[in-house]
Parts: sequence; C-alpha cells; structure tokens
Amino acid sequence: MSIGEPAAGGAWWQAAVIYQIYPRSFQDTNGDGIGDIPGIISRLDHLVELGVDAIWLSPIFPSPMADFGYDISDYTAIHPLFGDLGDFDLLLAEAHARGLKVLLDLVPNHTSDRHPWFRESRSSRRSDKRDWYIWRDPAAQGGPPNNWLSEFGGSAWAYDEPTGQYYYHAFLAAQPDLNWRNPQVRAAIYEVMRFWMQRGVDGFRVDVIWHLMKDDRFRDNPLNPDYREGDPEPHRLVPLYTTDLPEVHQVIEEMRSVVEEFEDRLLIGEIYLPLEKLVAYYGRDLRGVHLPFNFSLLLVNWHAPTIARLIEDYEALLPRGGWPNWVLGNHDRPRVAGRVGEDQARIAAMLLLTLRGTPTIYYGDELGMPQVPIPPERVHDPVERNMPGKGLSRDGARTPMQWDGGRFAGFSEVEPWLPLAADHASRNVANMREDTGSILNLHRRLIALRRRHPALTTGSYHPVHARDDLLLFARHSGGERFLVALNLGRDPVSLGFREPLRGTVILSCFADRDGEAVRGSIDLAGDDGLVIELEPESAMPAASF
Ligand code: NOJ
Repeated sequence: MSIGEPAAGGAWWQAAVIYQIYPRSFQDTNGDGIGDIPGIISRLDHLVELGVDAIWLSPIFPSPMADFGYDISDYTAIHPLFGDLGDFDLLLAEAHARGLKVLLDLVPNHTSDRHPWFRESRSSRRSDKRDWYIWRDPAAQGGPPNNWLSEFGGSAWAYDEPTGQYYYHAFLAAQPDLNWRNPQVRAAIYEVMRFWMQRGVDGFRVDVIWHLMKDDRFRDNPLNPDYREGDPEPHRLVPLYTTDLPEVHQVIEEMRSVVEEFEDRLLIGEIYLPLEKLVAYYGRDLRGVHLPFNFSLLLVNWHAPTIARLIEDYEALLPRGGWPNWVLGNHDRPRVAGRVGEDQARIAAMLLLTLRGTPTIYYGDELGMPQVPIPPERVHDPVERNMPGKGLSRDGARTPMQWDGGRFAGFSEVEPWLPLAADHASRNVANMREDTGSILNLHRRLIALRRRHPALTTGSYHPVHARDDLLLFARHSGGERFLVALNLGRDPVSLGFREPLRGTVILSCFADRDGEAVRGSIDLAGDDGLVIELEPESAMPAASF
C-alpha cells in the first residue's frame, strides 16, 4: 500500500518547515521582560541554523492583551510592546534576506472590545457599525438570547446595559465576534490582509477559522451526551450552531481569492475538528485554505498502533491534491515534552520531520523545553483564571525561550513575564549546539536530511509495521527509499524480517549509529529511532499490523 503522490507544481510551502514564534517569549531587547520584534531579528540566525523555511508569529498588533494579543484593537499597526512598523519592515527584510518566509496571525473572528469598530458598534443601536458584530435582544423571559457558551467559560453573551442588547463572544467578553454575514466586515478584513501582503508578508495562519459563521436562526446548541462532571464547562454543549457551519466555506474561498491576488502566499487555517470534518477545509476543488492545521498529533495517545492508524486515516481522507501537514506543539496545548515525556520528545521530532507533509515546530520544542508549572501568583492565562484547576492553563507552554546559561537564559536582562523552566541553565541553545547528540542537533540533522532527500518531503508514504511500541514506515521518491523506525517505549526492541532487508542508518536519534549497516533485522534501544536508507536491491518489508 502506498499513499500520496508528490503534488504537481510544488509550492514552496509543501517542502517547507514552519516554525511558530510566540513573540512575547522569544527574545526581549528593551528590558521589559517581554519579547519584541528586534529580539526576533537578533535570533533569526538560530532559525537559519536550525534550517526552517518560514516563521509564523502569534499576534503582534495593538491589543489590551486580555487574551495576549488574540484581542486586537488595531489590525494594521504593531503593539508598542513589540516595536513599530519600522521594526516589522526590518524583520521582513532580514528574514527574506535569509530565505525565511514570514507568516502573520490573522484573527478575523473577533476583535478586542476596545477596537474602534466595536466602540462604534456598541455606541447605539442605530450605529452604522451595529451590524458589524452580533447583537441580539434578551430572551423573551429575560437573560441571554440562547444557550451558547463561551470557549473560555460562562455564557457567550454579554449584556450591554446602555443599548439593552447582548453581543456574542465565542471567547472572552473582551473579544466580541465580528458578524461575518455582513459584507462590509468581510471587505474590511480582506483589506487588512492586503495591507500586510503589500508589505511583503508571505501568508497567514487564520485564527479559529471554523468559528467564523454562526447559525442565522440562533438555535440552541444541543446538550453533549458525553459530557462528564469536571470536564471544561463549554463541553456541556455540542457546538452544532456555533462552529463548522457549511456557509464558512464560502468566506474561506473569498479569503483564498484575496491571498491569490498576490504571488506565492500561504493560507493556513486553525481548525480543531475530527479528521473527516477537517479535510473539508481544503475546500471545493481545493479552493479553501492550503493547509488546514492537522492537530491530531497534539491529541493522540502515544501508542504506536494508534499513531499508525491516525496517519493512515488522515492520508486516506485527504482530498485529491490536498497537501498534508502535521503540528506537534503550539501556544494553546501542553508542550510535547510534557505530553509524551522528555525521553520521547526526540521520537516525536523524528516522526514530525519524516512524515509526509508540511511540519510545524513550536518554538523551544527544538530544545525539548518542558511544560512549566506556573505558581498561582504568576498565572496570566485568562482560561486558567476563568476555569481554575482544570489543567487548562496555557502559560506553561509559553515560557521564555532558553538561549544560554545566563541568569534569565539570555531571553532578557530582567525577570521575564512568565517564569523560566527550571532546567534553563543546561537546556539552552548555547549548550545544546555543542552537543552532537542533543535534541537541538537532532532537529537540525532531520531538517537538513529532509532538504537533501525529496523522498522525505514530497515522497509517498508506506505503512510498514506498528505493534506494541514499534512504529515503522517508509518514504519513497524515484529511486530513493527510506525506512523510519521508532521505538515509542523505554525497552529495547528487535524486529526481524523474512525478506532480505539491506540498508544503512543515515540518521539516529542520538547521533551514535549513523553509517551502521542494516542486514535483515532492526534493533532499537529504548526511546531510540533510526532513519535507514534502503539499498536498491533491498526488499521492502511487507506491512504487518
Ligand atoms: C486560538 C488561539 O490560538 C488562542 O490562543 C486564542 O485564545 C483563541 N484562538 C481566541 O482567539
């Protein structure tokens, strides 16, 4: 069985590795304990050394920071915390000069309640911009218009005393949802996109794109029969009428057309949906987003047969010509090293960087940065503040990047906005670059290998074996054949093949087996993984599940 043919045309983002920067936590240069754009510029060479092709910046726009930048009060300027438009233009120039693309976070679903559009909208029922947001009268018996819940806890409706109506907010009350049924809203956001693309931005990651449209009849969401006491409150309901509406695909097609007014730009959608629904976001005739973010590795049980099944399901569901992608970490989910354990973080990296499709790396995961416990007095995340003690805090995955052994890890001269991980004195870029077997160098070697061998980027995918802790798959392109062998457990494993398997280890997790000949069997230490190049005369092991 073989899945996936190299896509025709070969857009830049198909062979690319994307790297997400959370700007508050990347590099501080002005001594306020918060990262900034000059800081990102000063660290671009790390990214070049790592070998990534594109950076995506979480929001850098003016914002009251109720949701750390995902509450925007001006779409076409830079928050003074991070710098100004001059700094941003310099970042673009410096990144482009190094061959790095720059992607911005587009947050079209909602603005800040301080955005002039919302201020105007709430000023009067007769305001020209009243319909730019979602306003409803109270229910007949009083109270919110329906049962819709906010993702961040409580009702999704906030009452506006002076005008006597409620407005809808899928997230915080400080993040009112725009009304995407209003053509003026669409036009205004498309202008924002053009503004940044004219400046040279290479594309967007679109925040909560599957939320853009809501039911125009405002029907109650049904109760979720799977809800268990103690689950996060928003899970009480199935978001049938608030997300993933069929109409959303029409506006995404429009966004895609805007992106295509410019050359070679990329549109990524943030979408948390089961795979069979996710793939609809490639759109009719692939007119949707280029990459609907595939978050399944963020959520999967770390178990070889489960992962093998997931990869196959995803590959099988992809529409013809739809390009796959994989995400291992982001600013909303616990760090991969926290999820799968520090020892498995290398295996996770090898998986991410050898699967078919575009990988996205979250800053700091190249060091295996841990999920950091945050003491109550240093909690910033509104999700933790609104729904405390449910393990939902996102702060622990947003801690400062660990650059060197300095007091504040080279991130800042002062105490950073969030605590540093306890291991920053040893787990940092300066230290780990010197250690051939470090997880940082593993990332560099894997990315370099992908770059050298089309089989690992655009080559087809072949499942080989998944049992107990062992996961094996192959990647082919032209005459090149690679076998990837991953041990997802801590005990050594050995697998013999009946066919005459012949190859050479070209990359091993700890850089200690490179060049080793493989003859008929594969032996792996606990938490180890290999990329094996098969000789032309070698048999291809048959799939056995
Ligand atoms: C998704 C973003 O990734 C998350 O950080 C944010 O809180 C919500 N969207 C609301 O914008």
